Amino acid sequence: MGSIDILTAALPNMVRLGFGKKAPLFWLNKITRRCNYQCKFCTVWRTKPYGELSTQDALKLVRDIADLGVVFVCIEGGEPLMREDLHLVLKECKDHGIYTDIVTNGSLLPPRADEVSKQCDCITISLDGIGEAHDELRGVPGAFDRAVKAIGSVKGKTRVFVNSVITKTNYQNVGKIADFATENGIYASFSPVTYFAGAEDLRLTGDEFKSVMARLSELKREGKNIFVSEAYLRHCQTSENLECIAGKAYISTDPLGRVTLPCCVSNEPVYLEGGTLRENYFGKRADAVRVLPSCKECILRQRDAIYSEAAVPLKESFGQVVEFCRMYDRSTALMMEAREG
Ligand SMILES: C[S@@+](CC[C@H](N)C(=O)[O-])C[C@H]1O[C@@H](n2cnc3c(N)ncnc32)[C@H](O)[C@@H]1O
Ligand code: SF4
Ligand code: SF4
Repeated sequence: MGSIDILTAALPNMVRLGFGKKAPLFWLNKITRRCNYQCKFCTVWRTKPYGELSTQDALKLVRDIADLGVVFVCIEGGEPLMREDLHLVLKECKDHGIYTDIVTNGSLLPPRADEVSKQCDCITISLDGIGEAHDELRGVPGAFDRAVKAIGSVKGKTRVFVNSVITKTNYQNVGKIADFATENGIYASFSPVTYFAGAEDLRLTGDEFKSVMARLSELKREGKNIFVSEAYLRHCQTSENLECIAGKAYISTDPLGRVTLPCCVSNEPVYLEGGTLRENYFGKRADAVRVLPSCKECILRQRDAIYSEAAVPLKESFGQVVEFCRMYDRSTALMMEAREG
Protein backbone atom coordinates (compact mmCIF):
# COMPACT_ATOMS: atom_id res chain seq x y z
CA MET A 1 0.00 0.00 0.00
CA GLY A 2 1.46 3.34 -1.04
CA SER A 3 0.77 6.78 0.32
CA ILE A 4 -1.59 7.52 -2.58
CA ASP A 5 -3.91 4.71 -1.36
CA ILE A 6 -3.98 6.29 2.10
CA LEU A 7 -4.67 9.74 0.66
CA THR A 8 -7.47 8.40 -1.50
CA ALA A 9 -9.07 6.68 1.50
CA ALA A 10 -8.67 9.85 3.58
CA LEU A 11 -10.04 12.27 1.00
CA PRO A 12 -13.76 12.32 2.01
CA ASN A 13 -13.02 13.10 5.66
CA MET A 14 -10.20 15.53 4.73
CA VAL A 15 -12.69 17.50 2.63
CA ARG A 16 -15.21 17.51 5.51
CA LEU A 17 -12.51 18.74 7.89
CA GLY A 18 -11.55 21.40 5.36
CA PHE A 19 -15.13 22.71 5.63
CA GLY A 20 -14.80 22.84 9.43
CA LYS A 21 -16.90 19.71 10.04
CA LYS A 22 -16.24 16.88 12.51
CA ALA A 23 -14.69 14.01 10.59
CA PRO A 24 -12.41 11.63 12.47
CA LEU A 25 -9.51 10.56 10.28
CA PHE A 26 -7.36 9.13 13.07
CA TRP A 27 -8.24 6.81 15.90
CA LEU A 28 -6.13 6.79 19.03
CA ASN A 29 -7.03 3.49 20.62
CA LYS A 30 -5.73 3.26 24.18
CA ILE A 31 -6.50 -0.43 24.32
CA THR A 32 -5.22 -1.18 27.82
CA ARG A 33 -3.83 0.60 30.85
CA ARG A 34 -1.71 -2.35 31.85
CA CYS A 35 2.04 -1.89 31.46
CA ASN A 36 5.28 -3.60 32.46
CA TYR A 37 7.43 -0.40 32.47
CA GLN A 38 7.63 2.66 34.71
CA CYS A 39 8.71 5.50 32.43
CA LYS A 40 9.52 8.74 34.19
CA PHE A 41 7.41 10.86 31.85
CA CYS A 42 4.30 8.65 31.82
CA THR A 43 1.16 8.73 33.94
CA VAL A 44 -0.06 5.22 33.07
CA TRP A 45 1.79 3.19 35.71
CA ARG A 46 1.09 5.82 38.39
CA THR A 47 -2.65 5.21 38.19
CA LYS A 48 -4.65 2.06 38.87
CA PRO A 49 -5.42 -0.08 35.82
CA TYR A 50 -9.11 -0.48 35.21
CA GLY A 51 -11.12 -2.90 33.12
CA GLU A 52 -10.90 -3.32 29.39
CA LEU A 53 -13.09 -4.58 26.58
CA SER A 54 -13.50 -8.29 25.86
CA THR A 55 -12.13 -9.45 22.50
CA GLN A 56 -15.62 -9.50 20.98
CA ASP A 57 -16.38 -5.97 22.18
CA ALA A 58 -12.95 -4.73 21.02
CA LEU A 59 -13.71 -6.11 17.53
CA LYS A 60 -17.18 -4.51 17.52
CA LEU A 61 -15.59 -1.19 18.45
CA VAL A 62 -13.36 -1.50 15.37
CA ARG A 63 -16.41 -2.01 13.14
CA ASP A 64 -18.26 0.94 14.69
CA ILE A 65 -15.25 3.20 14.30
CA ALA A 66 -14.59 2.12 10.70
CA ASP A 67 -18.18 3.22 10.02
CA LEU A 68 -17.21 6.82 10.86
CA GLY A 69 -14.69 6.92 7.99
CA VAL A 70 -11.58 6.59 10.15
CA VAL A 71 -8.54 5.85 7.97
CA PHE A 72 -5.71 5.31 10.43
CA VAL A 73 -5.51 3.71 13.86
CA CYS A 74 -2.72 4.02 16.35
CA ILE A 75 -3.10 1.35 19.01
CA GLU A 76 -1.26 2.09 22.23
CA GLY A 77 -1.98 2.16 25.94
CA GLY A 78 -0.50 1.16 28.42
CA GLU A 79 1.52 -1.44 26.64
CA PRO A 80 -0.63 -2.79 23.77
CA LEU A 81 1.17 -6.14 23.70
CA MET A 82 -0.15 -6.85 27.20
CA ARG A 83 -3.30 -7.82 25.24
CA GLU A 84 -2.96 -11.33 23.88
CA ASP A 85 -5.64 -10.63 21.27
CA LEU A 86 -3.84 -7.59 19.82
CA HIS A 87 -3.30 -9.30 16.44
CA LEU A 88 -7.05 -10.04 16.20
CA VAL A 89 -7.95 -6.40 16.83
CA LEU A 90 -5.38 -5.33 14.24
CA LYS A 91 -6.74 -7.83 11.71
CA GLU A 92 -10.27 -6.51 12.21
CA CYS A 93 -8.96 -2.99 11.52
CA LYS A 94 -7.24 -4.12 8.34
CA ASP A 95 -10.32 -6.07 7.22
CA HIS A 96 -12.25 -2.81 7.54
CA GLY A 97 -9.77 -0.79 5.50
CA ILE A 98 -8.05 0.97 8.41
CA TYR A 99 -4.26 1.49 8.26
CA THR A 100 -2.67 0.16 11.41
CA ASP A 101 0.15 1.29 13.66
CA ILE A 102 1.01 0.15 17.15
CA VAL A 103 3.23 2.03 19.58
CA THR A 104 5.09 -0.30 21.91
CA ASN A 105 7.99 -0.36 24.33
CA GLY A 106 9.08 -3.46 22.38
CA SER A 107 9.71 -5.71 25.39
CA LEU A 108 7.02 -8.26 24.46
CA LEU A 109 7.34 -8.00 20.69
CA PRO A 110 9.98 -10.57 19.54
CA PRO A 111 7.99 -13.75 20.27
CA ARG A 112 4.94 -12.24 18.55
CA ALA A 113 6.80 -10.43 15.77
CA ASP A 114 5.29 -12.44 12.89
CA GLU A 115 1.68 -12.53 14.06
CA VAL A 116 1.65 -8.80 14.87
CA SER A 117 3.70 -7.42 11.95
CA LYS A 118 1.48 -9.30 9.48
CA GLN A 119 -1.41 -7.07 10.60
CA CYS A 120 0.52 -3.80 10.97
CA ASP A 121 1.23 -1.22 8.29
CA CYS A 122 3.73 0.31 10.72
CA ILE A 123 5.20 -0.58 14.09
CA THR A 124 6.54 2.21 16.28
CA ILE A 125 8.99 1.25 19.01
CA SER A 126 9.71 3.81 21.70
CA LEU A 127 13.34 4.86 21.99
CA ASP A 128 14.25 7.80 24.17
CA GLY A 129 18.03 7.52 24.09
CA ILE A 130 20.93 5.22 23.31
CA GLY A 131 21.95 2.63 25.92
CA GLU A 132 21.56 3.65 29.56
CA ALA A 133 19.99 6.98 28.61
CA HIS A 134 16.95 5.00 27.43
CA ASP A 135 16.94 2.63 30.43
CA GLU A 136 17.09 5.60 32.79
CA LEU A 137 14.00 7.30 31.33
CA ARG A 138 12.13 3.99 31.00
CA GLY A 139 12.79 3.03 34.63
CA VAL A 140 13.88 -0.51 33.62
CA PRO A 141 17.45 -1.83 33.18
CA GLY A 142 17.91 -3.59 29.84
CA ALA A 143 15.10 -1.63 28.17
CA PHE A 144 17.42 -0.36 25.40
CA ASP A 145 18.64 -3.87 24.50
CA ARG A 146 15.04 -5.06 24.39
CA ALA A 147 14.04 -2.16 22.13
CA VAL A 148 16.93 -3.01 19.76
CA LYS A 149 15.88 -6.69 19.69
CA ALA A 150 12.30 -5.64 19.02
CA ILE A 151 13.41 -3.52 16.05
CA GLY A 152 15.41 -6.45 14.65
CA SER A 153 12.44 -8.80 15.09
CA VAL A 154 10.14 -6.79 12.80
CA LYS A 155 12.52 -5.07 10.37
CA GLY A 156 11.77 -6.13 6.80
CA LYS A 157 8.35 -7.44 7.89
CA THR A 158 6.66 -4.05 8.09
CA ARG A 159 7.55 -0.34 8.24
CA VAL A 160 9.46 0.31 11.45
CA PHE A 161 9.71 3.62 13.29
CA VAL A 162 11.11 4.70 16.62
CA ASN A 163 9.48 7.45 18.67
CA SER A 164 11.38 9.52 21.20
CA VAL A 165 9.89 11.58 23.98
CA ILE A 166 12.00 14.71 24.21
CA THR A 167 12.63 15.79 27.80
CA LYS A 168 15.00 18.00 29.74
CA THR A 169 17.39 15.07 30.16
CA ASN A 170 17.65 13.90 26.53
CA TYR A 171 16.89 16.89 24.31
CA GLN A 172 20.55 17.41 23.50
CA ASN A 173 20.81 13.83 22.24
CA VAL A 174 18.32 13.92 19.38
CA GLY A 175 21.26 13.69 16.95
CA LYS A 176 22.28 10.30 18.41
CA ILE A 177 18.75 8.97 18.02
CA ALA A 178 18.51 10.31 14.46
CA ASP A 179 21.87 8.64 13.67
CA PHE A 180 20.70 5.36 15.20
CA ALA A 181 17.52 5.38 13.09
CA THR A 182 19.32 6.34 9.88
CA GLU A 183 22.07 3.74 10.35
CA ASN A 184 19.43 1.09 11.01
CA GLY A 185 17.35 1.97 7.95
CA ILE A 186 14.29 3.12 9.89
CA TYR A 187 12.64 6.48 10.67
CA ALA A 188 12.57 8.39 13.98
CA SER A 189 9.72 10.61 15.18
CA PHE A 190 9.99 12.93 18.17
CA SER A 191 7.29 13.96 20.67
CA PRO A 192 7.98 16.76 23.13
CA VAL A 193 7.07 15.63 26.66
CA THR A 194 3.56 16.52 27.83
CA TYR A 195 3.34 17.71 31.38
CA PHE A 196 1.65 16.46 34.49
CA ALA A 197 2.15 16.93 38.21
CA GLY A 198 5.24 14.95 39.20
CA ALA A 199 7.14 15.39 35.92
CA GLU A 200 8.08 19.05 36.27
CA ASP A 201 11.81 18.29 36.18
CA LEU A 202 11.44 16.84 32.65
CA ARG A 203 9.88 20.01 31.28
CA LEU A 204 11.68 21.92 28.52
CA THR A 205 11.83 25.68 28.66
CA GLY A 206 10.48 27.54 25.62
CA ASP A 207 14.03 28.21 24.39
CA GLU A 208 15.13 24.60 24.84
CA PHE A 209 12.09 23.45 22.94
CA LYS A 210 12.78 25.82 20.05
CA SER A 211 16.45 24.84 19.95
CA VAL A 212 15.66 21.13 19.70
CA MET A 213 13.16 21.77 16.91
CA ALA A 214 15.80 23.81 15.06
CA ARG A 215 18.28 20.95 15.55
CA LEU A 216 15.79 18.46 14.09
CA SER A 217 15.36 20.74 11.05
CA GLU A 218 19.13 20.75 10.59
CA LEU A 219 19.35 16.97 10.92
CA LYS A 220 16.60 16.60 8.34
CA ARG A 221 18.50 18.83 5.95
CA GLU A 222 21.57 16.60 6.52
CA GLY A 223 19.46 13.70 5.25
CA LYS A 224 18.71 11.92 8.53
CA ASN A 225 15.57 9.77 8.64
CA ILE A 226 13.31 12.02 10.69
CA PHE A 227 9.57 11.47 10.49
CA VAL A 228 8.47 14.96 11.47
CA SER A 229 7.39 17.46 8.83
CA GLU A 230 9.28 20.63 7.96
CA ALA A 231 6.03 22.57 8.35
CA TYR A 232 5.63 21.35 11.93
CA LEU A 233 9.27 22.01 12.82
CA ARG A 234 8.98 25.52 11.37
CA HIS A 235 5.82 26.16 13.34
CA CYS A 236 7.45 25.00 16.57
CA GLN A 237 10.14 27.63 16.19
CA THR A 238 7.47 30.35 16.39
CA SER A 239 5.43 31.13 19.52
CA GLU A 240 2.14 30.83 17.72
CA ASN A 241 -0.62 28.54 18.98
CA LEU A 242 -2.51 26.39 16.50
CA GLU A 243 -6.23 25.87 16.59
CA CYS A 244 -6.35 22.36 18.04
CA ILE A 245 -8.35 20.00 15.88
CA ALA A 246 -8.00 16.96 18.13
CA GLY A 247 -11.72 16.88 18.92
CA LYS A 248 -12.68 17.02 15.22
CA ALA A 249 -10.01 15.09 13.33
CA TYR A 250 -9.36 12.39 15.94
CA ILE A 251 -11.42 9.97 17.88
CA SER A 252 -9.83 8.75 21.09
CA THR A 253 -11.09 5.77 23.04
CA ASP A 254 -10.09 4.41 26.42
CA PRO A 255 -9.61 0.72 27.38
CA LEU A 256 -13.37 0.44 28.02
CA GLY A 257 -14.08 1.75 24.50
CA ARG A 258 -15.44 5.06 25.79
CA VAL A 259 -15.12 8.08 23.51
CA THR A 260 -12.65 10.38 25.24
CA LEU A 261 -13.05 14.11 24.58
CA PRO A 262 -11.62 16.54 23.84
CA CYS A 263 -8.63 14.20 23.55
CA CYS A 264 -6.86 11.51 25.50
CA VAL A 265 -4.10 13.81 26.74
CA SER A 266 -6.46 16.39 28.24
CA ASN A 267 -5.97 16.92 31.98
CA GLU A 268 -9.74 16.66 32.45
CA PRO A 269 -10.96 14.13 29.87
CA VAL A 270 -14.69 13.47 29.56
CA TYR A 271 -15.71 9.86 28.86
CA LEU A 272 -18.87 9.51 26.82
CA GLU A 273 -20.87 6.32 27.04
CA GLY A 274 -24.46 5.16 27.10
CA GLY A 275 -25.40 5.97 23.50
CA THR A 276 -24.18 4.52 20.23
CA LEU A 277 -20.59 5.32 19.30
CA ARG A 278 -21.85 7.69 16.58
CA GLU A 279 -24.06 9.59 19.07
CA ASN A 280 -21.26 9.67 21.60
CA TYR A 281 -18.85 11.18 19.08
CA PHE A 282 -21.07 13.47 17.00
CA GLY A 283 -23.88 14.31 19.45
CA LYS A 284 -24.70 17.39 21.52
CA ARG A 285 -23.07 16.01 24.67
CA ALA A 286 -19.84 15.61 22.71
CA ASP A 287 -20.09 19.07 21.14
CA ALA A 288 -20.25 20.56 24.63
CA VAL A 289 -16.81 19.13 25.48
CA ARG A 290 -15.07 19.08 22.09
CA VAL A 291 -13.04 22.04 23.27
CA LEU A 292 -12.74 22.69 27.01
CA PRO A 293 -11.85 25.97 28.74
CA SER A 294 -8.55 24.34 29.73
CA CYS A 295 -7.71 23.88 26.01
CA LYS A 296 -7.01 27.62 25.86
CA GLU A 297 -4.03 27.14 28.10
CA CYS A 298 -2.96 23.84 26.60
CA ILE A 299 0.70 23.84 25.70
CA LEU A 300 0.06 21.03 23.23
CA ARG A 301 -1.55 23.46 20.85
CA GLN A 302 1.95 24.60 20.15
CA ARG A 303 4.03 21.64 21.09
CA ASP A 304 2.35 18.33 20.69
CA ALA A 305 3.53 16.36 17.71
CA ILE A 306 0.43 14.19 17.56
CA TYR A 307 -2.19 16.88 17.32
CA SER A 308 -0.27 19.85 15.98
CA GLU A 309 1.14 17.82 13.11
CA ALA A 310 -2.41 17.16 12.06
CA ALA A 311 -3.40 20.79 12.47
CA VAL A 312 -0.65 22.15 10.25
CA PRO A 313 -1.88 21.01 6.83
CA LEU A 314 -5.30 22.52 7.37
CA LYS A 315 -3.74 25.76 8.39
CA GLU A 316 -0.59 26.02 6.41
CA SER A 317 0.07 24.00 3.33
CA PHE A 318 -0.54 21.03 1.15
CA GLY A 319 3.26 20.70 1.14
CA GLN A 320 3.18 18.92 4.49
CA VAL A 321 0.87 16.23 3.12
CA VAL A 322 3.22 15.74 0.16
CA GLU A 323 6.16 15.50 2.56
CA PHE A 324 4.41 12.82 4.63
CA CYS A 325 3.66 10.86 1.47
CA ARG A 326 7.33 11.04 0.53
CA MET A 327 8.49 9.89 3.99
CA TYR A 328 5.91 7.10 4.08
CA ASP A 329 6.94 5.83 0.64
CA ARG A 330 10.61 6.00 1.64
CA SER A 331 9.81 3.94 4.76
CA THR A 332 8.20 1.37 2.44
CA ALA A 333 11.36 1.32 0.31
CA LEU A 334 13.49 0.82 3.45
CA MET A 335 11.27 -2.10 4.48
CA MET A 336 11.74 -3.71 1.06
CA GLU A 337 15.53 -3.19 1.21
CA ALA A 338 15.64 -4.86 4.65
CA ARG A 339 13.52 -7.75 3.33
CA GLU A 340 15.82 -8.33 0.36
CA GLY A 341 19.12 -7.74 2.19
C1 LIG B 1 1.65 6.13 26.21
S1 LIG B 1 2.82 5.21 25.25
C2 LIG B 1 2.03 3.66 25.07
C3 LIG B 1 2.76 2.68 24.20
C4 LIG B 1 3.92 1.92 24.81
N1 LIG B 1 3.69 1.54 26.13
C5 LIG B 1 5.22 2.68 24.64
O1 LIG B 1 5.75 3.17 25.62
O2 LIG B 1 5.66 2.78 23.49
C6 LIG B 1 2.70 5.91 23.61
C7 LIG B 1 3.84 6.85 23.28
O3 LIG B 1 3.70 8.00 24.11
C8 LIG B 1 4.97 8.34 24.62
N2 LIG B 1 4.74 9.07 25.87
C9 LIG B 1 4.48 8.58 27.08
N3 LIG B 1 4.35 9.58 27.99
C10 LIG B 1 4.54 10.73 27.32
C11 LIG B 1 4.55 12.11 27.69
N4 LIG B 1 4.36 12.49 28.95
N5 LIG B 1 4.77 13.02 26.73
C12 LIG B 1 4.97 12.66 25.43
N6 LIG B 1 4.97 11.38 25.02
C13 LIG B 1 4.77 10.43 25.95
C14 LIG B 1 5.66 7.00 24.78
O4 LIG B 1 7.06 7.09 24.83
C15 LIG B 1 5.21 6.27 23.53
O5 LIG B 1 6.10 6.51 22.45
S1 SF4 C 1 6.00 1.71 28.48
FE1 SF4 C 1 4.57 3.16 27.57
S2 SF4 C 1 2.69 3.02 28.79
FE2 SF4 C 1 4.30 1.98 29.91
S3 SF4 C 1 5.02 3.49 31.35
FE3 SF4 C 1 6.33 3.63 29.53
S4 SF4 C 1 5.37 5.15 28.15
FE4 SF4 C 1 3.90 4.58 29.76
S1 SF4 D 1 -5.98 21.87 23.16
FE1 SF4 D 1 -4.86 20.28 24.30
S2 SF4 D 1 -6.36 19.39 25.73
FE2 SF4 D 1 -7.49 20.55 24.19
S3 SF4 D 1 -8.05 19.01 22.67
FE3 SF4 D 1 -6.13 19.96 21.99
S4 SF4 D 1 -4.49 18.65 22.76
FE4 SF4 D 1 -6.37 18.15 23.86
